[in-house]
Amino acid sequence: MTLPIDFPHISRPHLLHLLRAAPKAELHIHIEGSLEPELIFELARRNGVALPYASVDALRKAYAFTNLQSFLDVYYAGASVLITEDDFDAMAWAYFRRAAHDNVVHAEVFFDPQTHTARGIDVGVVIRGLDRAARRAEAELGLSVRLILCFLRHLSESDALATLEAALPYRDKFIGVGLDSSEMGHPPEKFERVFARAREAGLRLVAHAGEEGPPAYIRSALDVLHVERIDHGVRCLEDPALVARLASERVPLTVCPLSNVKLCVFDGLDQHNIPALLAADLCVTINSDDPAYFGGYVNDNFVQLFESLPQLTARDAYVLMRNSFDAAFVDDEDKALWTEELDSVFAANEP
Ligand code: ADE
Ligand code: ZN
Repeated sequence: MTLPIDFPHISRPHLLHLLRAAPKAELHIHIEGSLEPELIFELARRNGVALPYASVDALRKAYAFTNLQSFLDVYYAGASVLITEDDFDAMAWAYFRRAAHDNVVHAEVFFDPQTHTARGIDVGVVIRGLDRAARRAEAELGLSVRLILCFLRHLSESDALATLEAALPYRDKFIGVGLDSSEMGHPPEKFERVFARAREAGLRLVAHAGEEGPPAYIRSALDVLHVERIDHGVRCLEDPALVARLASERVPLTVCPLSNVKLCVFDGLDQHNIPALLAADLCVTINSDDPAYFGGYVNDNFVQLFESLPQLTARDAYVLMRNSFDAAFVDDEDKALWTEELDSVFAANEP
């Protein structure tokens, strides 16, 4: 199908409908960040875990973050209620249902094993629970799912290496590794050996870089860790030579607009640099990061972004969704199938 490049048949109200209705991939979602306050309290009660918050409302009130660290403190407290395989299954299943509702057809889901192994939970409990929900989502929701194990960068590289070795018996249940948690003061170089080990094991590689940290962290994620995608990466615009490289090598950036506003990376969605990233011809995708904490799932990110930035067009929407398939760790047949579905949704006339 040949699509008109500027989609002149798509009105603004129809575009807002298409943002929700079109098929898309989500490539940057931390499963522990999908834990809604109601489920946190239910699991805390079931597992006898004491929370430093009196109620669901009190917990929600704590979601007034000033930077990444102020969020991470609350996020790790929330994850402390996860104990059994069933808990990990329940958390992930809730996200998959929500994602399918947003017409996500493929999700690459981060998980943080060290948040749980530090509390005495076996890594197998974490991975088996998440995998059970993933297989159910594939069978019952038609959602394609892959898991990506993230190392916490505020911990040591030897802790990350031990985590990878403990997880390798479950190698068939995750496709890659990533790097998350407190960025400043923890450059990618700190994790050179563990990423080399993951590469030897045939795992795909991604890393958070340039969320709060400088463009130099994006460069070292590429040059030292050899990652294939950058999570966030919004600070790349401070370094024009880096932008040129990201564009020519077509390195995907998994951008998370609501997260960036909640964590004060930008003052508002209307200040977000997505239009500039798109104008620089970067392979940008839209994602929810930690939807339970940042006020919305992937469609909320799309709709609120386009409502706040009227200069974004139907062509931008198409490109963002198309990029999500191009950047996914799946085979070319899957990408072609989803792209065809996307094309037919954008080609259809308004009802
Ligand atoms: N862990 C969960 N969300 C994160 C984010 N936005 N940045 C770094 N680590 C995270
Ligand atoms: Zn993230």
